Amino acid sequence: MEEKKIVASALQQAIPELDAEKIMQLLETPKVATHGDWAFPTFSLAKLWHKAPNIIASELVEKISSPDFEQVKAVGPYLNFFLNKEKFSQLTLHDIVVKQDRFGDTTIGDKQVVTIDMSSPNIAKPISMGHLRSTVIGNSLANIFQKIGYAPFKINHLGDWGTQFGKLIVAYQKWGSEDAVKANPIQELLRLYVEFHERAEEDDSLNDEARAWFKKLEENDPDAMYLWSWFREESLKEFHKIYDLLGVDFDSYNGEAFYNDKMDAVIDLLEEKHLLKTDQGAEIVDLSKYDLNPALIKKSDGATLYITRDLAAAIYRKETYNFAKSLYVVGNEQSIHFRQLKAVLTELGLDWAQDIYHIPFGLITSGGKKLSTRKGKIILLEEVLNEATADALKQIEEKNPNLAHKEEVARQVGVGAVIFHDLKNDRLNNFDFDLAEVVRFEGETGPYVQYTYARSQSILRKAKFTPSADENYALADDNAWEVIKLLQSYPDTILKAADKFEPSVIAKHAIALAQAFNKYYGNVKILTDDAQKNARLALVYAVATILKEDLRLLGLQAPAEM
Ligand code: ARG
Repeated sequence: MEEKKIVASALQQAIPELDAEKIMQLLETPKVATHGDWAFPTFSLAKLWHKAPNIIASELVEKISSPDFEQVKAVGPYLNFFLNKEKFSQLTLHDIVVKQDRFGDTTIGDKQVVTIDMSSPNIAKPISMGHLRSTVIGNSLANIFQKIGYAPFKINHLGDWGTQFGKLIVAYQKWGSEDAVKANPIQELLRLYVEFHERAEEDDSLNDEARAWFKKLEENDPDAMYLWSWFREESLKEFHKIYDLLGVDFDSYNGEAFYNDKMDAVIDLLEEKHLLKTDQGAEIVDLSKYDLNPALIKKSDGATLYITRDLAAAIYRKETYNFAKSLYVVGNEQSIHFRQLKAVLTELGLDWAQDIYHIPFGLITSGGKKLSTRKGKIILLEEVLNEATADALKQIEEKNPNLAHKEEVARQVGVGAVIFHDLKNDRLNNFDFDLAEVVRFEGETGPYVQYTYARSQSILRKAKFTPSADENYALADDNAWEVIKLLQSYPDTILKAADKFEPSVIAKHAIALAQAFNKYYGNVKILTDDAQKNARLALVYAVATILKEDLRLLGLQAPAEM
């Protein structure tokens, strides 16, 4: 951020005792506009200079003068800097006009790979709200990391292996039919799964049968394999419907089953490093020095586990993609699992274990209660997306009945509402899912940002505005300045979002920018013919460009009209 550096270097010349870095750290952004654009607290100088902070502040003011500042004011122990609005609005608008949607791009990532394990639903079960969160957070992180120069690689680590397939095969053979599965794959497979659990509560022998079938599957028994791959295929077809609606794609669908033939190598490696211990017939890795329960690698019946497959996957990913960072966007409830995974890799002496990041997120509840697939208590994502779309269409019919491509816009808005609602708060926050609230189009929502973008586009169309890199777009009024400051902070906002793995940082920027722009629009007559008209239009153009880019980073479309 250029502006902050300019303030810091002006201060540095007046305070030789502190280096520019330290000054950068001390600079604050005042909460209220009347305190200027940057504030410097003088407390840390009091000891050095043996003077009271407010005296230091008034002395420093005398030493600083530069055309970069409209004013530098001492207020108590603070120095308040007011940037030269004309100069910096021109710089910012010029930059955006030249770079357009590449404003904020950097090469920090140096094309290094970031693998993102995301979505990863379980075959034969509906995509849950948790998987929705993983999908949209992961997708947004991929966009953000790409923007700062990394090469993201999105992996759908499908839950396509595990004892549940034994249960499913038993249930299908006893109470299912081919036709029913074909007609409605996931719903029918879920019904069978739920029925299995209900009946197994009364009759434990069903669990034995399920274990036996899973064992067969692990031994590549053709009947078992046939059913498994059929369930997988039918489920994937359904998942794709949702991914298409969300506009998300993946670079790999290597799920848990992909690692079946890579398991022995992991176990050999663990043995080689003398990490395996036998505990009641099972193979475990002791992790007490990490304050963690042991990782269960192999059950007494020889079956491998979720973590065994994750170990194989982590090693495979390092060898295949040579990632600089490896992210796992998975719910908070699995944080122990990922700590164990990292600990075992560390024990194996793999120094890249430190590049593994679990990106947890909070739980979605319904009516205050946890959702459980086993009990059949789920929210169907497809229904949510369709309902949100229907709602968007209704609002368009009311407000803009003559809009072209109404259906398409309604999809972009409805789906956008669901995605934005998920991304706008810190990812670790839990939230209760209330469809009526998600599809509300006022307040801090995706549709509000989309609507603001469409408004800015309509102004530009009306004015037939084309931006030019040679024109001077200086604006000096306070209304514009609020908007300019948000535009200026955009490159830093992206870095912050990447640093914290937090798409909500982008969502909050989008909301703030939309609000500031709407305030500007309410207070200023943009299209009045005067000397500033083109500068105002350049501001509108810059807002449109950045709002669209904010939306794109979050995974939302930006319809030009709505
Ligand atoms: N399929 C798992 C679930 O639904 C999520 C998998 C996450 N990724 C991983 N590599 N463990 O809970």
